[in-house]
Amino acid sequence: MAAGSLTAMTGRDRFLATLRGDQPDRTPVWFMRQAGRCLPEYRELRSRHPFLEVARTPELAVEATLMPIVRFGVDGAVLFADIMLPLEGMGVPFEIRPGVGPVIADPLRSIEAVNALRIVEPEEGTPYVLDALRLLKGKLGDRAAVLGFAGAPFTLACYLVEGRPTKEYPTTKALMYGNPDLWHRLMETLTDVTIRYLHGQARAGADVVQLFDSWLGLLDDASYRKYVQPYTARIFEAMRGVVPTIHFSTGTVQLLEAIGETGPDAVSVDWRLPVDDAWKRLGYRTGIQGNLDPARLMAGWDVIRNGADDILRRVGNRPGHIFNLGHGVMPETDPDKLARLVRHVHEVTAR
Ligand code: CP3
Repeated sequence: MAAGSLTAMTGRDRFLATLRGDQPDRTPVWFMRQAGRCLPEYRELRSRHPFLEVARTPELAVEATLMPIVRFGVDGAVLFADIMLPLEGMGVPFEIRPGVGPVIADPLRSIEAVNALRIVEPEEGTPYVLDALRLLKGKLGDRAAVLGFAGAPFTLACYLVEGRPTKEYPTTKALMYGNPDLWHRLMETLTDVTIRYLHGQARAGADVVQLFDSWLGLLDDASYRKYVQPYTARIFEAMRGVVPTIHFSTGTVQLLEAIGETGPDAVSVDWRLPVDDAWKRLGYRTGIQGNLDPARLMAGWDVIRNGADDILRRVGNRPGHIFNLGHGVMPETDPDKLARLVRHVHEVTAR
């Protein structure tokens, strides 16, 4: 097909067509952590409001969500929020410590603590997330797809049990191996809340939802299948026919087939595997998202373009690819390079 011969689509149409496996007019692009510290306008907003105030005030959350749409022209608008937000309604207060991340004063280590977790509806636990989605949808129209998200049960458990970010989450894994009754009860509760939360987001206008299992790379295949996979599969099953889903993780070359079996519409992969190898292993019935190394964005334009072109060449003309980074944008990234990268991917993939 000659370049540019498909009628131009809106960002939302482009995103949703790709997740259905249809050919979009251009490859859709968005970036994890696109609304964040790399943007001077975000830093300015944050100088006036603490992080959690931005996340819990729909007008401010929407303002932050729209910043990368205006500046980069991305096809997906990921709601400005955090994976930790649903925990408060479950009875687990937390803070986001600058430069550290999520911190829980009273980490969860006993069956009594797990049994005390509340299963809440999002209308009660996180009404401001739903309000922000409705407001966002109204302001955005079809310009970009509205992306909702949740933390996956395993990654939430890492923060709940450890109480703060660590490198290897050893206490969490020891509890998983050593106290399977507690573990499965915890996973079931988190799965229940996550399904309610994502259904609520879909009702409030999310076009797509992404499940962030950021620390999954710590597990081997057998443990993943035993302790985590059934819960992830239950979440995607509950979303089928509601909105399309994307699974996110990093460092999970050893788990790729098992992740694909959980049934998301697309799987996000990082830079550790070439995108075509990853896709072949997943099977082409599943879409793929990724997988530029965010560190490339801190180098020169040639390094960025070569990385992007290599990904696009490996994908070829096969529909089902969402262009993204393998993990989040680093705060040091020059936003002009992100804007140039979006233009480049759209130009090169125009069909
Ligand atoms: O553009 C976006 O992606 C915005 C929405 C978003 C945030 N967090 C905002 C945020 C999303 C999708 C998340 C998800 C999230 N939160 C994940 C999964 C994604 C991943 O990176 O793997 C995780 C693990 C968290 C937990 C969390 N919250 C961390 C690790 C941090 C960063 C700590 C730090 O200071 O480096 C946060 C805080 C946070 N969440 C920030 C942002 C923009 C930085 C807070 C600030 O403004 O100071």
